Amino acid sequence: MRVSVIGCGYLGAVHAACMAKLGHDVVGIDVDEQKIAELSTARAPFFEPGLEELLGEVQATGRLTFTTDMAAAEGSAVHFICVGTPQKKGENAADLRYVDAAALGLLPYLADGDLVVGKSTVPVGTAGRLAELIRDAQPGAHLAWNPEFLREGHAVQDTLSPDRFVYGVPGGSEDHAAAGVLDEVYATPRGMGTPRLVTDYATAELVKAAANSFLATKISFINAMAEVCDAAGADVTLLADAIGMDERIGRKFLHAGIGFGGGCLPKDIRSFMARAGELGADQALTFLREVDTINMRRRTRVVELTREMCGGSLLGQRITVLGAAFKPDSDDVRDSPALSIAAQLQLQGAVVTVTDPQALANAARRFPELNYELDIEEALRNADAVLLLTEWRQHRDLDPFATIQLVRNARILDGRNALDPQKWRAAGWTYRGMGRP
Ligand code: UGA
Repeated sequence: MRVSVIGCGYLGAVHAACMAKLGHDVVGIDVDEQKIAELSTARAPFFEPGLEELLGEVQATGRLTFTTDMAAAEGSAVHFICVGTPQKKGENAADLRYVDAAALGLLPYLADGDLVVGKSTVPVGTAGRLAELIRDAQPGAHLAWNPEFLREGHAVQDTLSPDRFVYGVPGGSEDHAAAGVLDEVYATPRGMGTPRLVTDYATAELVKAAANSFLATKISFINAMAEVCDAAGADVTLLADAIGMDERIGRKFLHAGIGFGGGCLPKDIRSFMARAGELGADQALTFLREVDTINMRRRTRVVELTREMCGGSLLGQRITVLGAAFKPDSDDVRDSPALSIAAQLQLQGAVVTVTDPQALANAARRFPELNYELDIEEALRNADAVLLLTEWRQHRDLDPFATIQLVRNARILDGRNALDPQKWRAAGWTYRGMGRP
């Protein structure tokens, strides 16, 4: 099928490459000339494992091109909207200007029978509104809402073989033509057994908001348990192992630490609360405010623990922060808890050096006042305290016996509970975890 993908960021670039991999003829469209120039030469504009190899592979087949010209969407049967929906400045609600611009920009190129497919995370009600716009411009075109559940760091795999597809179509009818078109687009993963659910627009939009809210709640739940464990002298990692063995609970997403960040969970729970308020259902989601508060309290807690470890004052203390990305295997620093902690420590008088295998350039753009060092050994040299804040393999695999030779004071705060406390203590370190004695 001929497919256009509008928006070539973390979501769209991966989606475009994966659609080509599935055998479709794809054009990726974005307003950012730099991004398009890189993608056109099979270079990924951000770090995502496997993406660059995939871009190279599918571009060699001639099935994937990139352009800044929206007119290139003309002639495609399916048009995916993959632009960002960031948090509005100074408000909890989502900023829909890019989604609206993508939809409006597409209208002149829509033909009879075309299907526009929204993948961006949007407040419930958006699809209904866009469907009207499309109907007015091209009565023969349809809109479906098909939320994306990919995780950064696993984006290629998650796109090629997701857990499930959700198709939001008018009226929620399985017989709607849009469901048939999407089945054709996703024929390969569907053939491998990926289930699909057909819903109305509102349900499809809400599935995404609910899924991310549930994940955020799970993380804040275990972080709340970590607070209680800290107060009681208990170990939250063992607690999570034990409750996670109950299949109804599950061990995934029960890693206590410095909390969640990134371009999705934080802004999605806030925009969900804002939208529920507009709908008069704000009471239903007041618990998400608590989820957000618990999450933010983790960052303050790390700053306080670091101060304690450093003997009561951060002034002049040389702190090495391992990790800038919001999670490993990503260079994304949007709302990164690691960077937010690093910046707070610096503001309180510490001399902070941040190291990260992929995210330093993005981090330096956001917080130019911090020191950055790519080489881990250099970053650790003469440190008064080391904070592991993003659990990259390089950080988890650090050898405590070798590392202790580099630092001035052997203090480590394991913000992700990713290290073996016994091993680090045996090597002579003062080890602190999150919610562990
Ligand atoms: C999240 C969802 O997991 C995806 O399903 C969704 O498609 C995506 O948002 C989106 O809306 O686009 P992502 O932002 O890539 O994906 O990251 P996650 O893997 O969910 O991690 C989010 C944050 O939670 C990270 O900072 C991570 O370190 C933290 N986390 C995760 C924990 O603190 N503890 C855990 O147990 C798990």
